[in-house]
Amino acid sequence: MDVVYLNGQFIPWDQARISPDDRGFLFGDSIYEVTRWYGGYFFDLPSHAARFRRSLHETRIIWEEESRFEEISEELIHHNGLGTECAMVYFQATRGVAPRTHAFPDPPVKPTVYGFARRQSLNTLASERGVGIWLTPDPRWNRCDIKTTALIANILPYQEAHDKGFAEVCFVRNGFVTEGAHSNIFFVRDESLYTHPENNDILAGITRKNIISIARSNGINVIEEAVAADMIPYMNEALICNTTGEIVPATRISDQVIGDGTPGPVTKRLQILLRELIQSGDPHR
Ligand code: PDD
Repeated sequence: MDVVYLNGQFIPWDQARISPDDRGFLFGDSIYEVTRWYGGYFFDLPSHAARFRRSLHETRIIWEEESRFEEISEELIHHNGLGTECAMVYFQATRGVAPRTHAFPDPPVKPTVYGFARRQSLNTLASERGVGIWLTPDPRWNRCDIKTTALIANILPYQEAHDKGFAEVCFVRNGFVTEGAHSNIFFVRDESLYTHPENNDILAGITRKNIISIARSNGINVIEEAVAADMIPYMNEALICNTTGEIVPATRISDQVIGDGTPGPVTKRLQILLRELIQSGDPHR
């Protein structure tokens, strides 16, 4: 039986109970974080912890034990016997339980904090062969920098892409490619790497940040500028990235084949460099 964390306790999953008046359930008034465990250590846990705390602060959700994020994540791994496995840890905090009204509960209530760990291996087929992604107008709000669980604007386009046989959907805002429903996107043109700058239009991905860092320290030019959707036919390579999938080549974007339709040399090099960084265990080395 899986062991989950709920409001200060580690309990069997089937004993976890959440009120129907929880604001996460009623409003999506809630934030989350996803980390990855590599059979002995988390990769770049400090960056995930910092982003989780930032999401709490930006949404004014007060969790007095926010400093325990790292420790609870580790405990979830060990309570579930995942110490030597590859796994993901999901962590969520909602504004808590209160009768439905838009205003914050007054007096404030404790947040609902939930976490689980799950065995998860990499989709090696996608990493080796590449995937197709669907491009569509970005229907999301203008605080995409917050990792909120209010994800219906990600889910509806993702499902449309999924139904068409694509592995991810990427969004276009004001003519420029922003990011995927659950990934960031990079393009390669003339040996340079392009990705949307960090601002309210994208989530500041931890994988994105580490790719930029390994690229720069290995002599690959990185330009943090958004790519116009109508420039996609001129791109040599594209890739999507996130914590659970690492780097996945994007070999087709909607009807456009990228490069020769197979993973390109810069993408493959970045995959190797990221793997080395992950195996070293320390992105700050
Ligand atoms: N999603 N952009 C969005 C909208 C995301 O949801 C994610 C991650 C990323 C990549 O961030 P990172 O490299 O820190 O994982 C970018 C997670 C994996 C999810 O929702 O499951």
